Amino acid sequence: MSIFSKENTNEIFEYIKKNLAKGIKDRKHTFHTPVFSNINDENSVESRVVVLRQFDSHNMILNFHTDIRSPKVNDLKKNSHSLFVFYDHKLKLQLRIKTVSIINNQNKITKEMWEETKLSSRKCYLTAKAPSSVTSLPEDGIDKSLEGKDPTLMESEKGYKNFTVIENQIQQIDWLYLASSGHRRLKVIIKEKIPYFEWMIP
Ligand SMILES: Cc1cc2nc3c(=O)[nH]c(=O)nc-3n(C[C@H](O)[C@H](O)[C@H](O)COP(=O)(O)O)c2cc1C
Repeated sequence: MSIFSKENTNEIFEYIKKNLAKGIKDRKHTFHTPVFSNINDENSVESRVVVLRQFDSHNMILNFHTDIRSPKVNDLKKNSHSLFVFYDHKLKLQLRIKTVSIINNQNKITKEMWEETKLSSRKCYLTAKAPSSVTSLPEDGIDKSLEGKDPTLMESEKGYKNFTVIENQIQQIDWLYLASSGHRRLKVIIKEKIPYFEWMIP
């Protein structure tokens, strides 16, 4: 028995939000690591896994963290249209969420998030070369003195300038529920925080 009615749009919308919130809190939830896609400067699609860090269910915003020097940041500045894909085998659920991305660096939002970031995560922002730089040897780009250990709090602060929060404003959700009793597909369009629903053939 499902814990929502697959015919009730409001219940489905609440269920979507519940699972996105779970994806933040529960590191083992499949929604913790969605695939995020955007368009690069050659007009082709780039997709990669990211860690979902925040979900603001009131404003319908999904956040993840990255390095300001990462190519996707520049690409998102040029074209802010983006997309998340979530899939959970047990829930039989796929979500495709269209978003518009906003880049935050060295502002109030990044300051607050940086304070909550663990030393082990801060280490990612300490590479001498930018992420995606070509190297002659296989390496992680982090100074040898930090090999196998976390930076001290003071050492980690050098990474703050690179630390970036990508806020993604949800525009549309494509909910696909696959069940032997009958597949269902619902489009949820978010306009000024209000959801509008359209059933679709799966
Ligand atoms: C489990 C997992 C979580 C990841 N989380 C992030 C993340 O939160 N932010 C990020 O920028 N890259 C993350 N990555 C790395 C990206 O998938 C990607 O390899 C990297 O960002 C470079 O992508 P780009 O060249 O498109 O910028 C993660 C990878 C994995 C496997």
